[in-house]
Amino acid sequence: MVKYAAVEDVLSGKHAEGSPVSIRGWIYRTRSSGGVSFVVVRDRSGVIQCTVKKGVADNSSCEAAQKALVESSIQVTGKAFQDGRAPGGWELRAEKFVVTHYGETYPITRDQSTEFLLDVRHLWLRSQKMTNVLKARHHVIRYLREFFDEQKFYEFSPPILTKSGCEGGSTLFELDYFGDKVYLTQSGQLYNEALIASLEKVFILAPTFRAEKSRTTKHLTEFWMLEVEAAHFDNEENMRLQEEMVSFVCRKMADEQSGLLKNLERKPDELTVVEPPFHCMTYEEAVDKAGIEWGDDFGAKDEVALTKGLDKPVFVKNYPLKIKPFYMEATPDGKHALNSDLFAPQGHGEIAGGSQRVWEYDKLVKRMKAEKMNLADYEWYLDLRRYGSVPHSGFGLGVERLIKWLLNLEHIRNAIPFPRVINRAYP
Ligand code: 4AD
Ligand code: MG
Repeated sequence: MVKYAAVEDVLSGKHAEGSPVSIRGWIYRTRSSGGVSFVVVRDRSGVIQCTVKKGVADNSSCEAAQKALVESSIQVTGKAFQDGRAPGGWELRAEKFVVTHYGETYPITRDQSTEFLLDVRHLWLRSQKMTNVLKARHHVIRYLREFFDEQKFYEFSPPILTKSGCEGGSTLFELDYFGDKVYLTQSGQLYNEALIASLEKVFILAPTFRAEKSRTTKHLTEFWMLEVEAAHFDNEENMRLQEEMVSFVCRKMADEQSGLLKNLERKPDELTVVEPPFHCMTYEEAVDKAGIEWGDDFGAKDEVALTKGLDKPVFVKNYPLKIKPFYMEATPDGKHALNSDLFAPQGHGEIAGGSQRVWEYDKLVKRMKAEKMNLADYEWYLDLRRYGSVPHSGFGLGVERLIKWLLNLEHIRNAIPFPRVINRAYP
């Protein structure tokens, strides 16, 4: 059986010059001149130039290399040599060039519109840019899990279909459930709260859905949220946990994925400066800084104003209770929430939001009634305040928002392979 080498290993000189090597991948670029084909081949680890030349390669290999179009899948066997003219400094001189599949004329060429690239997203994901982003996404998610495992949190899987919305009715996706009404989950928080009575410290990493009607560079209708809940934590401890989590991921990315960051034009140093303590201001201070009215929420341009010149994220804490959801615990004066929103630098927006929770039955019922919620759909949630309730806190982190900031992406849709936004659920 043929053993195939990874392109990155050939490029790093792992195979001695002149030794036989086989690789397999896809044609990234190709051109022929004077009977020689220069075929740049990509696999998941990198791109390398293969020369296919009469005399070195057999006739059928030469014909195949001349005929095969970009994105055809191929296998090449030959010898690796250092060559300063080749991208990456090494080239493979082919002796055998076999086309696994002759691709049709590839629809993606240079300078195509964003809308077209979204239509052929399933193909555009093969681009170097998206390949790097998806690798980074994999690592970010891996580090998040690693952090919470080290902190002794248990992960579980929440339901996606639910009768209990928790972030307001306007962004719920409604479904017919055998004649009954259910929603796609907006947040698994309420289920997290159920699990702390046994596991104490829990998290979930799951898709969440919001019928966001606005078109922005920060909103998806389907996104992944990391949600964390801990028994006995107050809001301050909740904030400490968030800054440690974000700093951990930044440090890991800078230390272990610097090559990937460089490919994405992100300097690892910009991430190593992200460490506790984060900046922090009260809602009132933030209102002054952004120049908005008390009681308003921060818009995109306010998020830029709040984070101008900052090299690490900033917490805004203690929002007016009336603009935050029913489950947030109040400050003693009853006017503010024991909560925080965490804003990423350079206007990348809110990456996480959390709070201490209302943990006493009477207070919670009063808040839910004030919001005109249908208590029957939340009886199970109220049970959590009937049987051994404890003070607790938690938060939700938008995974794509975090990635958008870490990789400095212009649009959140590039932080997820198949983005869903108001005008797109294809491919
Ligand atoms: O602030 P949100 O709405 O908070 C909650 O859902 C809480 N129940 C979470 C919790 O405490 N367990 O959402 C949390 C985070 C936001 O800070 C933002 O980063 C992200 O989720 N987010 C979105 N990301 C992409 N597209 C959207 N439409 C988003 N809406 C929220
Ligand atoms: Mg929020």
